[in-house]
Amino acid sequence: MRMYDIIAKKRDGAALTRAELEFAVGGYVAGTVPDYQMSALLMAVCLRGMSDAETADLTDVMARSGEMVDLSAIDGVKADKHSTGGVGDKTTLAVAPIVAACGVKVAKMSGRGLGHTGGTVDKLASVPGTRTEMTRERFFAQVNELGLALIGQSGHIAPADKKLYALRDVTATVASIPLIASSIMSKKLAAGADVILLDVTVGSGAFMRTLPDAVELARLMVSIGTAHGRRTAALITDMERPLGRSVGNALEVAESMAVLRGSAPADLTEVCLQLAANMLALAGRGSLRECRAMARKAIEDGSAFEKCCRMFAAQGGDVRALQDPSLLPQAAYRHEIRAESGGYIVQNDVERIGTASMLLGAGRLKKEDAIDPAAGILLHKKLGDAVTPGQPLATLYANDPALFAPAEAAYRAGLAIGPEKPPEPPLIYARVTAQGVENL
Ligand code: URA
Repeated sequence: MRMYDIIAKKRDGAALTRAELEFAVGGYVAGTVPDYQMSALLMAVCLRGMSDAETADLTDVMARSGEMVDLSAIDGVKADKHSTGGVGDKTTLAVAPIVAACGVKVAKMSGRGLGHTGGTVDKLASVPGTRTEMTRERFFAQVNELGLALIGQSGHIAPADKKLYALRDVTATVASIPLIASSIMSKKLAAGADVILLDVTVGSGAFMRTLPDAVELARLMVSIGTAHGRRTAALITDMERPLGRSVGNALEVAESMAVLRGSAPADLTEVCLQLAANMLALAGRGSLRECRAMARKAIEDGSAFEKCCRMFAAQGGDVRALQDPSLLPQAAYRHEIRAESGGYIVQNDVERIGTASMLLGAGRLKKEDAIDPAAGILLHKKLGDAVTPGQPLATLYANDPALFAPAEAAYRAGLAIGPEKPPEPPLIYARVTAQGVENL
């Protein structure tokens, strides 16, 4: 077999066999297929696409490129969730403790943030003392005992994805539905959970910019998970506005804790409740309506917040900072962005808000960059809100005041104020299961 022929076959639009995918991916991981040939194949996939069967084979080959975690040493059903990424997307820190408080175990490995989107591991690490790495034995023991552990993804999970993603990132080949589906699902299958809930974001802050693309990505990932015997579903959620009001690691932790204490913005709480209810329903805890009531009760009776505190305590975190946000890392400087005219916010590009936050130090441009846990943005006004001239739209937080000018420029580049209130996008568009698509 020759890599040249595999590239040419995909260039001409034909479907690759499993043996050809194993040759290409295996060779790339082993170093016998060079970057330039894999780049050519990835670009051919971007332009020509892949059949569902091909994508399923690619996912399986990538998942098996490393360790397939066996969670059977943990009793009961194990649930996982994954978001395709967004700005201010802090749902995991609230949803995982809610689900665990309702009796379904969550053994979750999360990623770090890259580009304009955030990652759960960076948020966990912004709580002083929190360990995001632990041995497999300790991870299993914590999930068995507490029902919940959130840690960083081990380097042994889907190493093919790690290498391929780094190459896609620099060759303009991220934006491909089969490549995104296989990237995400290879990691989810290898991480071993029985239940997988996918949060597929759509809008200006997401990989998927249109609803049909988001539904297609969700459908493909659900079919891959289901074919592997995992109970899998997806919610299509809005990323035309950041979720909640905070962007940046410590700021987002504080807002997630507000969800668990019943005092968070309504949009964030609603999405967290829906995600938790869907995870619980997939895990067999009852109908969606019953599971939503269960999730709400776990917030109201304090059991979800208590579960979260116990998890952070077990991982070495300073639990006092979950109760008192002033004990989380604080930025030395703040800067207000004010409205230059009155009217309604008719555009507030989410990717630009994410870029502004990254420029303040809250995110990384390259994967080895350090991040500042205290940096970020508090949004006072969002898409559709009425504003008067001079009113504060957002507060920027940083430890270097020189970062405010470029961050403000990025934020303003995506901002438009107009005379008419724009239509409000729904928070959740649809639910995708093995049975089909249900519009919500
Ligand atoms: N998230 C992933 O893990 N992979 C992608 O390709 C895109 C988003």
